[in-house]
Amino acid sequence: MKTLFDETCIGTIQLRNRLVRSSTWEAMADETGRPTPRLIQVYHDLAYGGTGLIITSATTIAGDATHPPGMLAINDNSSIPAFQELARTVHEAGVPIVMQLVHPGRDGVMWTPKDATLDDIQAIVKGFGDAAIRAQKAGFDGVEIHAAHGYFLSQFMNVRKNTRTDEYGGPVENRMRFLLEIAEVIRARTGETFPVLVKINCSDFEEDDGVWDATRAACKDLAKFGISAFEISGGVNGAQFPPQGLPYEESIFRDYATEIARTTAVPVILVGCNRTPSVMTELLNTSGIRYFSLSRPFLRQPDLADYWKENPDRAAECISCDSCRNQPDGNVCPFRESPGGEI
Ligand SMILES: Cc1cc2nc3c(=O)[nH]c(=O)nc-3n(C[C@H](O)[C@H](O)[C@H](O)COP(=O)(O)O)c2cc1C
Repeated sequence: MKTLFDETCIGTIQLRNRLVRSSTWEAMADETGRPTPRLIQVYHDLAYGGTGLIITSATTIAGDATHPPGMLAINDNSSIPAFQELARTVHEAGVPIVMQLVHPGRDGVMWTPKDATLDDIQAIVKGFGDAAIRAQKAGFDGVEIHAAHGYFLSQFMNVRKNTRTDEYGGPVENRMRFLLEIAEVIRARTGETFPVLVKINCSDFEEDDGVWDATRAACKDLAKFGISAFEISGGVNGAQFPPQGLPYEESIFRDYATEIARTTAVPVILVGCNRTPSVMTELLNTSGIRYFSLSRPFLRQPDLADYWKENPDRAAECISCDSCRNQPDGNVCPFRESPGGEI
């Protein structure tokens, strides 16, 4: 029987358990997008709390992308030393760390696919490659392409949002082209073994959005580029979460993730309302899903992995109230005794 505390590998990444910190915007980077001591403390607490793998908050790849306040940015080489310190802090606890890369938009506006010229698309593809190299140089164990939650890249998959009539719009193979090109360039630039993960929506939960078709096809093709893991998410940022009409209260995208696990050999990470070890353990042994990532519960209990090792019968304390989103002074859980850790 598999357990949450099995020691496993995702490519070259060694994990002490199957519990992953899903990317979570802390709103604690400095005005140039570099990690601050306070932000590094968040990662220190997660690492020393026994987390199996930490994925950073979405880190913008683009110099021209106006990011929300306090977002990490890896858009030039001068930021590498600051990120080295973040990676070193986590590694000192024996925990691997992956950088999530995102293109959030331009000039403070969320781009839609039709806004981008072919030159823009090629520049963004190259930008992802440049950012991945920087993450590798900074000592990160891998990168994750953020292709979920209705951000720019994710919108290409959605037939309602992507109204392009060129080779990046229309049929499934066109809608997934942008993501595939990004994966290909990162693989080519970082070498054959550098772990590349993809966070992707099973659905935007909009009527006839076409996302599930595009995602299933993309996952099959992404497997050919040696993608190390798929993190299966869903829904669009700003819309109701979890989306309405899902059959479960916990581990809500489980059916979609099970289907991706059935149809590719790439390890699947399930995100979204994972709260109870027994539910996850059951899924682990019945579904092909190999890892479970969590966001809000780690804001309340950064030592949740260690806690669950000792208390496998207890659910996470997180009540999914979303009070951690858009806090004025960093995205922290207001119910945590010492929110944000020691400063
Ligand atoms: C405060 C906050 C910030 C988040 N930031 C990111 C992010 O930067 N990148 C990302 O892919 N998802 C982000 N998410 C989504 C989470 O990674 C996760 O997919 C979602 O919260 C569901 O997991 P949970 O039920 O364990 O919280 C964020 C969620 C929260 C609550």
